[in-house]
Amino acid sequence: MTTIGILGTGHLAEFLIRGAAGKGFGFLVAPSRRAKTLGARPDVTLAASNQQVVDGADLVLVCLPARDGLAILQTLRFHAGQSVLSAMAGTRLAPLAAAVGPAAAHCTMMPGHANAYGAGPCLLYPADPAWHAFLATLGPVHGFTDETAFVTATAFGALSGASFFLMDSLTRWFAANGMDGSDARRLIAETLIGNATVLLNETASLAEITPGIATPGGITEALVRALGAKGALDAWHPALDIVLTRVRGES
Ligand SMILES: NC(=O)c1ccc[n+]([C@@H]2O[C@H](COP(=O)([O-])OP(=O)(O)OC[C@H]3O[C@@H](n4cnc5c(N)ncnc54)[C@H](OP(=O)(O)O)[C@@H]3O)[C@@H](O)[C@H]2O)c1
Repeated sequence: MTTIGILGTGHLAEFLIRGAAGKGFGFLVAPSRRAKTLGARPDVTLAASNQQVVDGADLVLVCLPARDGLAILQTLRFHAGQSVLSAMAGTRLAPLAAAVGPAAAHCTMMPGHANAYGAGPCLLYPADPAWHAFLATLGPVHGFTDETAFVTATAFGALSGASFFLMDSLTRWFAANGMDGSDARRLIAETLIGNATVLLNETASLAEITPGIATPGGITEALVRALGAKGALDAWHPALDIVLTRVRGES
């Protein structure tokens, strides 16, 4: 059993503990409102303080609020041989390493809720076998050797969250037009899973795939044209630019 210490025992921590259940990990978690409920799990031990988490685990996972996380880490004493993985949005390696030294520093990003089902892709920078083994229990792992590419990829965390709002909006439209709400919810989820399966399995490019999907004069073409006329598809790029500015630490 490998012990992982968790600083910031909130929503993400709970998703990750649920996803890793029964896969060889135990958790020593920092006090919080949510920690009390999580403490009822057999794989979770409650610590009395953040420092007790750091003292009790060689692998420390940081799920603290992104705004205050580094300042909180600077108040703690880490030791050589420890490894710290930050899941906080916008964490850059150099300031993290400075805050947790002499421990080793690593960064990750994941969707969160999907990890509770072992289905959320996880980013890891730089590579590390111990963290890779943990993240692999939560979904496919994407290793990075280049920080610029890693930071850009972390914007997918916001995309993941936004996709719930898209699914909610679509579900409400189908329900408002006479479909049972729970049937609509399942249909939308199955449609997106199916199309994602195409992307994961076909070797053809999207430019080659889309002509076979949008029949000239058909309903897909009509929908895509109407969305394009409203700028709905192009709007993703400037919106993701805002996220990128945030995760780069530029705003
Ligand atoms: N939620 C996601 O799906 C997701 C996905 C990827 C990355 N992230 C990242 O994960 C981090 C946490 O997000 P979250 O959604 O889990 O937030 P959250 O639910 O608010 O959890 C944050 C936790 O940190 C605790 N905390 C605050 N100050 C603390 C301190 N000084 N010492 C110890 N614990 C402290 C809070 O305790 P109290 O509740 O007692 O105040 C809370 O339990 C963020 O940096 C975010 O960027 C989240």
